[in-house]
Parts: sequence; C-alpha cells; structure tokens
Amino acid sequence: ICSTSGLFCCLYGHRAYMGARIQYARIGSDVTMQCGSLDNDASVMWKVNGTDVKARRREEGPRLTLIEVDMTSNGLYSCFQNPDDFQRRDQITLRVGVPPREPQVTCRSNTYPKGFYCSWHLAHATYIPTEFEVDVRHNQKPLEVKRDEVHKNRCHVKFPELFSSFPYRVNVTAINALGSASADHSFEESSMVKPDPPEKVVATPIPNNVRRLVVTWNSPSTWPDIDSFPLKYFLRYRPLIKDQWQHVELSDSTSHTITDAYVGKEYIIQLAAKDMEIGTWSDWSVAVHATPWTEEPKPITSTTEADVLIETTPSSAPPSFKPRVGNPTGGCSTLICSYHILLVCTLMSIMWYVCDLT
Ligand SMILES: *[C@@H]1O[C@H](CO)[C@@H](O)[C@H](O)[C@H]1NC(C)=O
Ligand SMILES: *[C@@H]1O[C@H](CO)[C@@H](O)[C@H](O)[C@H]1NC(C)=O
Repeated sequence: ICSTSGLFCCLYGHRAYMGARIQYARIGSDVTMQCGSLDNDASVMWKVNGTDVKARRREEGPRLTLIEVDMTSNGLYSCFQNPDDFQRRDQITLRVGVPPREPQVTCRSNTYPKGFYCSWHLAHATYIPTEFEVDVRHNQKPLEVKRDEVHKNRCHVKFPELFSSFPYRVNVTAINALGSASADHSFEESSMVKPDPPEKVVATPIPNNVRRLVVTWNSPSTWPDIDSFPLKYFLRYRPLIKDQWQHVELSDSTSHTITDAYVGKEYIIQLAAKDMEIGTWSDWSVAVHATPWTEEPKPITSTTEADVLIETTPSSAPPSFKPRVGNPTGGCSTLICSYHILLVCTLMSIMWYVCDLT
C-alpha cells in the first residue's frame, strides 16, 4: 500500500546519530536549538561536529539560535553545561531543507487491460527525506494501490472495469518534516494506454538482394493479451549517413521487408507499438543496425592498362577514382614490380602471370 506513515517515521530517524534527535529547518530561516530541558538561566557551551560554532548566531542561556541557516549549517550540535564539568547535556542533528512542491504525476497502462501504474517525482530537491501518499479514485470509489518493488516512486492499480468513461483521479501528496504539497490529476482509461516498445528486433540481409532487409520483432512481453488486444506497429529506418527516416505503419504483423535500401549502406532500424484502438505510441525500440547483402569483392583476373598505371602512380589518380578495397591480388605492388617490369607486364600477357605470382 502506498500510504506509508510507518516508513515515513522510520526514514526520519534514519540518519540520526546514536542518541541525537533530529531537528529540521527551512533554508533561510533562523533556527533555535534548546539544550535538553535546562532552565533559562543555565549557562551552556555549544559545539558543532566537535568544534566551535562559527556561524552567525545568538546564544541565550540554554538556547542557540542560528541566523539564516543554509546547507553548511547541517551538522551534529552538542551542548555542554557550564561550569558543571562541561557535562554534555544534549545532541541535536540539524538538517536543513525545504518543504516539497507539487509532485509531477503521470499514469500509464503498458499492461492493458490488466491495470496501470502512476509515477511521480519532484522537480525541486528538498534535501531532507520526503515521502509520498497516493490516493486513486474511480467514480469516487477508492482503489487499491500497490507500491512497485523496484521503482521507488511508482504505484500499480488494477482496472476495476473496462471501457469506463469515468476518469481515474490520482492525488499524490509529498510530505516531509517541513511541509506537504498535493497534485490532483484525472486520467482517462483510453489516453493512459501506451505499450512498451517491441522486443527482439532483428534485421537480416537477403542473399543476392542488395536493396532488401527483412525486419522481424516480437510484441512487447508486458502486453498481456495480444489476441484480444492486438497491436499495430510503426517501423522507421534510415541509412546511417542520412538524417531523414522512412516510415512504414503495419497492422498486426511482426515482420516487414524493406525493399528500397541503398546498396551497401548500413541501416538503423527501430519500431514502436500502439494498441489498435486507443492510447498512444510506445517509445522506440532499441536501435538495430544492418547492411543489405553485398557482393563479395572478386579477385581481379584481368587488369587493364589504365588500372595498372593508376595503382603504380597514386598521385595522378583522378578524383573519381575509388580505391579497390580488399583486392590483394589485383595488379603489381610497386614494391615488387619496378616500373620497368611493369612496362613488360603490360606489354606481354605471359609475363603478367609471372609478375602476378611474385
Ligand atoms: C558537520 O559534518 C557534516 C558531515 O561531515 C558536514 O556535512 C557539515 O557541513 C559539518 N557542519 C559544519 C557546521 O561544519
Ligand atoms: C489529496 O490528498 C491530500 C492528502 O490526503 C488531501 O489533503 C487533499 O485535499 C487531496 N486533494 C484533493 C483535491 O482531493
């Protein structure tokens, strides 16, 4: 259950030093700490973290007032009675913070039609322990709210009925020692539905087809009843070298063949899912990369005169010249064949074989 008054108390004591009580103070305020229950005329000496208090302050009898505290005022304050052997009389842990502001709340159903979850966070830090109370109502009726085991700021609610036109009213209250703030929102069943992204997305090249990629995927495993509540999918793909995506919308199918890929280009592919009828698109799936099938570079069995000249005189290569990558046997290496031998190579085809073998 999200209501956690027990946990709340427990957290308050969490950081306390043994035997020290905790006093919370708002940033910018003046804070008065009282040394135990000593009389007003008692004389007291204060220490913080075991050293003298240097902050702006007033000391009156058993009371220490810190002026306009900030985060540097945090610490363990101890008071000692004077002159009574300087016995320690009290210890206070001072924790400076601010009251919470209205939490930000969103609710979403990725397990439609089973239920939905609400999550919340504070846009501004409070610096001190802050707890949340969650109240969910449907047509005025309070619903059971279960805290998520992993995500601290998340609660789960079962749909009490389906296809309801009544909204779900969600009231999240943030509470800490300095104050509280509530956010109250209404969520429609139909707008909360947002599946998780498709899973196990795989893109495979097709042998001998330089422009195709087969993409397959699974529906999100969190979606409980794919037969009764089918999903549609949105596929987007682009070559790495381009910024613009191409899109395909697909109904109730978990594969698609891209037929217009650029030859030899690496592609990035993602999918999103949505309930056929209601709700919004999921986030994009993790991107997968694939390159269409390309012809293995073939060893060159015959070389033209131009090729040989280009390869032996790289400085004169024209801008349009593309180096033949991965072509170890093509042409004579300049190290092995001198220009003189090259001339012989190009003139006599029989000599070419000898040269190639070296
Ligand atoms: C006391 O010690 C705590 C923890 O080490 C530190 O964060 C704090 O700033 C110290 N307070 C003062 C007033 O020196
Ligand atoms: C939300 O809950 C808090 C705490 O229970 C309550 O004080 C507040 O009135 C509620 N707000 C609405 C609008 O119901």
